[in-house]
Amino acid sequence: MIIKKINLKNFRSHDEYELEADGLTTLILGENGWGKTSVLEAIYIALQGKSFRAVDREILKRDAEFYVILIKLMNGEEVRVSFDGVNKNFLIDGKKWKRLPRKNRYPVILFLPSDLNLISASPGRRRDYFDALISQRDEKYARAVSKYKKALKQRNELLKRENVEIFEVFPWNVMLAEYGWEIFETRKKEIEKINEKITESYRSIAENSDTVSIFYKTDIKSKDEYLKILENDFLRDKILKHTSFGVQKDDFIFQFNGREAEGSASRGEVRSIILALKFIEADEIEEEMNKKALILLDDVFSELDEKRQRALISNFSDNQIIITSTSKPEI
Ligand SMILES: Nc1ncnc2c1ncn2[C@@H]1O[C@H](COP(=O)(O)OP(=O)(O)O)[C@@H](O)[C@H]1O
Ligand SMILES: [Mg+2]
Repeated sequence: MIIKKINLKNFRSHDEYELEADGLTTLILGENGWGKTSVLEAIYIALQGKSFRAVDREILKRDAEFYVILIKLMNGEEVRVSFDGVNKNFLIDGKKWKRLPRKNRYPVILFLPSDLNLISASPGRRRDYFDALISQRDEKYARAVSKYKKALKQRNELLKRENVEIFEVFPWNVMLAEYGWEIFETRKKEIEKINEKITESYRSIAENSDTVSIFYKTDIKSKDEYLKILENDFLRDKILKHTSFGVQKDDFIFQFNGREAEGSASRGEVRSIILALKFIEADEIEEEMNKKALILLDDVFSELDEKRQRALISNFSDNQIIITSTSKPEI
């Protein structure tokens, strides 16, 4: 257990809110629009540094001057986050930070209703999902993704200019090949690791002999070729006004019994696949960071049938779990 108490002030619809966790599992019950997701959002900000759904200006309660999140941890530490409409501050052990330092972050596994649609969502959503999943554990990857996105933006800006010449995009080509290659290699390794475990994890939920895997769909082959293609594509990209080659086109295809899961797996099977993925995420956090992730389940518990609810609870029996729901779960 890591979180003991949460206090909120002027956080979205909450004027004042207090929650005390008295065991490993905490249930937040409330009707739609009551402010349940907001509580998880506040916890996420305090432990991960930023919201999973909005910027601070949108989070600050309408017409209020500042918001405060105060989290008391089990180890006695306190994390205080405040935002005054312009600046955000993290106060930890008497020290003030503009951003939450990596050493003060605590791993969180967030489970949102939209995750249940991951398999049929857009490739962009899947890339963001896996990027976030890897970034939580791998700072170097997080930096590569951020540098890649900046370079891509710069190259695309240049391509929109009438008179842009090939030498101008060259430095961006070099950066894209450099970071793009790193992203490719890390994604590839991560998917290999997940594939070693996902069928077993799936079977622990479904109790049958179905197989699951993820196919990493990419056009990247080598670092040298990456740079060459960007150079060769210049005229085409100039006409298209954007960069047509790179890891920003990658996708992750879920496979069920050797076929594409989308269209072949049932709704329940898809849910089990996503659960299996979350279980692996927790495993990897524990292996690599030696910490038990905090599990935040936003409105998904009631979406699962009893068998999957039980699998979830038993898999995370040693983790602290905070669940939001509109109705009291059966189990
Ligand atoms: N900045 C804000 N100030 C005041 N109310 C807000 C703000 N942002 C969102 N809300 C309100 O909060 C509610 C949504 O909160 P949310 O945590 O998503 O609810 P729930 O998860 O319980 O459905 C909505 O009624 C919305 O209008
Ligand atoms: Mg909600």
